[in-house]
Amino acid sequence: MKYRQLKLGVNVDHVATVRQARGTPYPDPLEAARLCEKAGAAGITIHLREDRRHIQDRDLWSMRRHLNVRLNLEMANTPDIVAIAVKARPDEVCLVPEKRRELTTEGGLDADGQKNALKTTLARLAGAGIVASLFIDPERRQLEAAAELGAPYVELHTGSFCDASGRRAQRELKRLIVAAHYAHELGLNVNAGHGINLATIGNVLQIPWLDTLNIGHSIIARAVLVGMKSAVREMLAAMRGYRGYPRG
Ligand code: PXP
Repeated sequence: MKYRQLKLGVNVDHVATVRQARGTPYPDPLEAARLCEKAGAAGITIHLREDRRHIQDRDLWSMRRHLNVRLNLEMANTPDIVAIAVKARPDEVCLVPEKRRELTTEGGLDADGQKNALKTTLARLAGAGIVASLFIDPERRQLEAAAELGAPYVELHTGSFCDASGRRAQRELKRLIVAAHYAHELGLNVNAGHGINLATIGNVLQIPWLDTLNIGHSIIARAVLVGMKSAVREMLAAMRGYRGYPRG
């Protein structure tokens, strides 16, 4: 039997977080995205938040123009952001819930409770040729709503599993496995993401039917460390031109 290869989508939001902290032009999320591409990522994810705390509109447009891999735009289902998406036409959109004061996306979308609003948006996205995904908790009710809405993809929220330990983590992993089987039965394509790192990835791979894992924070955090020696060496090399003064 031939198995489909599991793909990695890298979320580069936190490259923009570092840039926005100083208002500098660097580090450029597009440059980071290109390096992800070179390293084998199948896609790049960015979250254009309503508060624009990290990714800016210009990042969306530059990614749209210059990326060779698929661009997945995470976004809230609000009129302004949907209008931007339909204009920019990323390859994929993942609809997520968004709260102003959250540190990161908390919990999945209530697809079951927002069917009408989602139906309209899914139709607009499909009309623009954008493949849509709903970021949901691993619950039957949400999966059934996604299937009823005709969403081609769901992204299962792995945060509750990744943040848990011991028995709770086992329970959360089981919920994800059961949900992935059910999603597949319902004809939904399955992605997963949130909170995945090198410690949790082994167990995440037990989830069946996965198409793409979207991973951000842990990769950016790790990149800071694995890149540190090079960055220091670059600066030391640049300092070598100092002419010096006599000592003493
Ligand atoms: N998938 C979705 C829908 C998300 O909202 C996020 C966070 O932006 C991620 C994946 C990536 O999560 P993390 O940064 O924890 O890897």
